[in-house]
Parts: sequence; structure tokens; C-alpha cells
Amino acid sequence: MLIRQAVPGDYQAILALQAQNTPEHLNAQQRQQGFIVSQMNEKQLASINSGLGILIAIEDQQLAGFVCLMPTDAQPRPPVVDAMLQTLANQQFQGQTLSQRRVFLYGPVCLSAEWRGKGVLRQLFAAVKARTQQDFDVGALFINDDNPHSLAAHVDGLGMTALTSFHCNQQNYQLVVFATHG
Ligand SMILES: CC(C)(COP(=O)(O)OP(=O)(O)OC[C@H]1O[C@@H](n2cnc3c(N)ncnc32)[C@H](O)[C@@H]1OP(=O)(O)O)[C@@H](O)C(=O)NCCC(=O)NCCS
Repeated sequence: MLIRQAVPGDYQAILALQAQNTPEHLNAQQRQQGFIVSQMNEKQLASINSGLGILIAIEDQQLAGFVCLMPTDAQPRPPVVDAMLQTLANQQFQGQTLSQRRVFLYGPVCLSAEWRGKGVLRQLFAAVKARTQQDFDVGALFINDDNPHSLAAHVDGLGMTALTSFHCNQQNYQLVVFATHG
């Protein structure tokens, strides 16, 4: 499995994987392995990738997964990210208030169905930390309460910390963070 930053030639595969994993394209059983609600287009991918970047996992030239990384001042920001950032500012993590730490946004993250449960998320996570630890202290993500598989993978599996929950547009989310060091 190769982990590297995306290039423009990867964007179509990323968009296809995104589309396959939106709730309306998943049956009830598939949804239990998680879903994403992002609707990024090619222009937004290019913008994210020219900032902190999009990391992808590739095997035999096929996309196995991707994760987007963004600074907290990225624009445009969906309402759920604004709600998350408001919640985050007052939270403590490792003895410090998060408004005083250098925080970046982790997500969306998505693996193709055939590559789940095979350690790819852990490899992407190691690459995320390596890429961000010089300029950032903490990564932050939100996970919909309807996506317990993602919460278990990130918190119980990767050791991230669920700090608190917040609401946005009638949905409830967990605010999850991790240190870029360690
Ligand atoms: C969510 C997603 C990225 C997780 O990836 P995954 O490959 O399915 O994750 P896994 O089940 O292998 O879990 C990752 C690690 O956590 C561990 N883990 C998972 N659930 C666990 C639990 N309840 N207790 C302890 N460890 C657990 C796994 O064993 C694995 O560890 P390993 O690397 O040592 O094998 C993937 O399922 C996906 O892309 N789903 C669709 C889109 C999505 O939901 N994205 C996230 C939106 S927030």
C-alpha cells in the first residue's frame, strides 16, 4: 500500500469514492460501515490539496482511500465545521485550552469497501501525523452519532479522544481530537 499526497489525476477517483459513500447510495447494511456527507467537487479538492493536502492510499494504481486535511480558517466552511470550531475553542485537551493550540481539520476520510478492516486507516493516520506535526499540535474531526463504526475505528482503534458532542441541523456529532505528536 502506497500512501502519498493526491495529484490532480487522482481527483476523479476521489470524487467517485466520495459519491459511493454518501447515505443515499448505501443500503442499511452498508451504512453500518459508515458514510460521508461531503459533496466536494474537483475545484474544492484542488483547493484543499494546495493547502494542507489530501493524502491517499493506493494499491495497484487503484484508490483504496483518502483523507483531507485543512487549516481551521479554510473557506468555504460548511455549518457543521463552524459548529465544531465553536465547540472546540472552549475545550481542554492534554491540559490546555484548544483555542491556544494549533489545530487542523481531519476529514472527510473514506476507504473503499474492499479495503476496510485491513490496517489502511492506521497507515493513513501515521502519514497524517507525519505531515502535520511540524506546524500543528492537534487534529480535530467530527463524527455523526449515526456512524458508530467510524467512532470506534478512530477512538477505540486509533486512540483518538472523543471530547464532547455538539448539534448542527438536527444532527448530533462527536468532536474527536488527537495529538500530532505521539
Ligand atoms: C470509517 C472508516 C474510515 C474506518 O476504516 P476501517 O478500515 O473500516 O476501520 P477498522 O474497522 O479497520 O478500524 C481501524 C482500527 O480500529 C480498530 N477498531 C475498530 N473498532 C474497534 C473497537 N470497537 N475496539 C477496538 N478497536 C477497534 C480496528 O481493529 C483497526 O485496528 P488495526 O489497524 O490494528 O487493524 C471506513 O470504514 C470508511 O471509510 N467508512 C465509510 C466512510 C466513513 O464512514 N468515513 C468516516 C466519516 S466520519
